[in-house]
Amino acid sequence: MNTSIEKLLNDQVKFEASASMQYLAMASWADANGYNGVADFFYLQSEEERIHMIKLVKFINERSAKVVIPQLDKPKSDFESLNQLFETFLEQEVFVTQKINHIIFECLQQKEYNVHNFMQWYVTEQLEEEAVAKTLLDKLTIIGDNKSGHYLFDRDINMIASANQNEE
Ligand code: FEO
Repeated sequence: MNTSIEKLLNDQVKFEASASMQYLAMASWADANGYNGVADFFYLQSEEERIHMIKLVKFINERSAKVVIPQLDKPKSDFESLNQLFETFLEQEVFVTQKINHIIFECLQQKEYNVHNFMQWYVTEQLEEEAVAKTLLDKLTIIGDNKSGHYLFDRDINMIASANQNEE
């Protein structure tokens, strides 16, 4: 594997690991603030990001390239509101999508077609995750500061997120 692609894939291991820890911090904040539905949602998102990370680690090893397990920065763990929590969610997903797109671009430049093929799974995954993050943030924008709205959002978050996925 081209060393610049190897470096990009290892960087992506770090981004996925950081997303996993970020969502764990968000789940914990939600848990501590009484939003149990939101907490469960982010505990699951955290697990999914860990799966994304491990899939990359296994692929790099399968291709006999070198995996570098990264040191992570501390995730953001204080949020002013549910809205801010979901703004962070969307920002995080947009950031990861940009990184995936960059890898795709570089794979084509370097004629790394196997890696390009492998990364298509991430392209699809990012489309779904960004769409879910946007839908949830849109709902919260409608709800604004309404406490009963937040109560219902917390109760119905999984239904809202899966309704969004079924529409695709
Ligand atoms: Fe695996 Fe949502 O980034």
